[in-house]
Amino acid sequence: MIVLGIETSCDETSCALIDDDLRILSNAIYSQLEHEEYGGIVPEVASRQQIRKIIPIYRQSMETAGLSLDDINAIAVTCAPGLIGSLLVGVNFAKGLAFSTGKPIIGINHIEGHICSNYLEHHDLKPPFVSLVISGGHTMLVLVEDYCKYGVLGRSRDEAAGEAYDKVAKLLGLGYPGGAKIDRLAKEGDPEFYKFPRANVRGDPFAFSFSGLKTAVALYLKDKPDTFIEKHLHDICASFQSALIDAITVRCLLALNETGLDRLAVAGGVAANSALRSSLGKAAESGGFDVCFPSLELCTDNGAMVAAAGLERLKRGESSDLTLDASAQTSLAT
Ligand code: KG4
Ligand code: ZN
Repeated sequence: MIVLGIETSCDETSCALIDDDLRILSNAIYSQLEHEEYGGIVPEVASRQQIRKIIPIYRQSMETAGLSLDDINAIAVTCAPGLIGSLLVGVNFAKGLAFSTGKPIIGINHIEGHICSNYLEHHDLKPPFVSLVISGGHTMLVLVEDYCKYGVLGRSRDEAAGEAYDKVAKLLGLGYPGGAKIDRLAKEGDPEFYKFPRANVRGDPFAFSFSGLKTAVALYLKDKPDTFIEKHLHDICASFQSALIDAITVRCLLALNETGLDRLAVAGGVAANSALRSSLGKAAESGGFDVCFPSLELCTDNGAMVAAAGLERLKRGESSDLTLDASAQTSLAT
């Protein structure tokens, strides 16, 4: 069985083909750079670019795999959550393919896609496990009870971790997106240079909150001369990053403890972060649990993760129909 996965929920256009052994036959990704000059994603620009790129990216995925539409058994597409204009491009493209070929179509939740990215490279990963989904749009701890069965343990009450990275990068004049830049600069900085707050949400130990941390960085920078910021840029990045990663690591340990599980699968754009990988890696070693991350290419939004989620649902007899619609808000389905 060969599944085509289509992902267009935000500013990546991606089409991928996988087989039923979860082998990736192709994973074509176009990342929009057009948003850099605006300092953040402009939804109108994102959806227009999706329209321009969807067919070339689809063709590229077919050519790389050496396959044609006839070879495909099903089409999986991200239908929620995300930017509605961007989502609609992928959903309508997928519906066009399904309508013209009569092949089954399945709508996939983007968060579920990120979780399933780990199945593609860690074939021994099987539910139950805890997943940390950490990206520009989401920060969540999810209990993966079984294939396609999820329980949300906690989520961010305000900003996603990636959003906090991007906003702090903007405050430091590093441009957009800033997560990878802060990661790089922080490697040569002192994480104890300044102690930024690690916020807790009263009554909800699994909930994340990052907007206070971002404000603390803004207030700290406010009265500092440019020369000071330039001189200590690495240290400020490392101190911010250490506060954010401490807060995440503590909650992951708590989730494993509370659920009694010993496997953590991290996913999403911020899963590429080297300090997060090292912090959770060390915690796993001392805490006696396993942690896995996708390779860097599968951390970012991609069609292969959507195909993997689609494959698991199709195997269980699920599919959507041509009334499939996109939704900006829908939370993780169980
Ligand atoms: O998963 P993703 O590609 O898109 C969303 O679904 O949001 O994640 C993008 C986010 C951006 O906020 C970006 O700054 C962040 O992931 N990011 C990183 C790193 N690489 C990407 N954040 C921290 N460290 C990184 N190395
Ligand atoms: Zn994502």
